Amino acid sequence: MAIKTTAIVAKNQWKYISELEMDLAPVLPKFLGNAGEINQIVLNLIVNSAHAIEAVKRPELGMIKIETRSSDGFIILSVSDNGCGIPEADVKKIYDPFFTSKEVGKGTGQGLAITYNIVTNKLGGAITVESETGIGTKFEISIPCNPEEMETTDDS
Ligand SMILES: Nc1ncnc2c1ncn2[C@@H]1O[C@H](COP(=O)(O)OP(=O)(O)OP(=O)(O)O)[C@@H](O)[C@H]1O
Ligand SMILES: [Mg+2]
Repeated sequence: MAIKTTAIVAKNQWKYISELEMDLAPVLPKFLGNAGEINQIVLNLIVNSAHAIEAVKRPELGMIKIETRSSDGFIILSVSDNGCGIPEADVKKIYDPFFTSKEVGKGTGQGLAITYNIVTNKLGGAITVESETGIGTKFEISIPCNPEEMETTDDS
């Protein structure tokens, strides 16, 4: 995992919109899956957060937080923001392919469908979301791992 690198590569997507705070574990247990998949997930979530903050149209920068840690045989990755939040009626639709609330050209509704597929079908993990309109959104992903085998994450 090289989440810090992914976040920096994506800087053009958030630098005028938000600050980015990272609390990343330098060492995590091994998981079944490749770094590219995790990077794609992180990129999808960062871009969604940036769009959600942009939608609020505050004068000051928003805040996106990314955290990784390990817990009881799982790697936990969370991305949270203080953007517009997701209306309650939309929460059950956000993982549907093609569900988007964005204007044509801004979103195709694929990001979370792809993310959900990687997390659940490929990695055997789970994704949860907590959101409140006007307050913000937090996605949390847990991926099963082998707690006996640790590896450096390139995030130190
Ligand atoms: N952090 C967030 N804050 C508020 N709404 C969100 C957030 N993440 C996702 N959503 C909502 O879920 C919808 C689906 O997200 P998804 O990433 O699948 O598609 P998209 O961002 O619209 O398009 P794409 O990712 O294909 O460019 C978004 O259009 C938005 O309405
Ligand atoms: Mg998206």
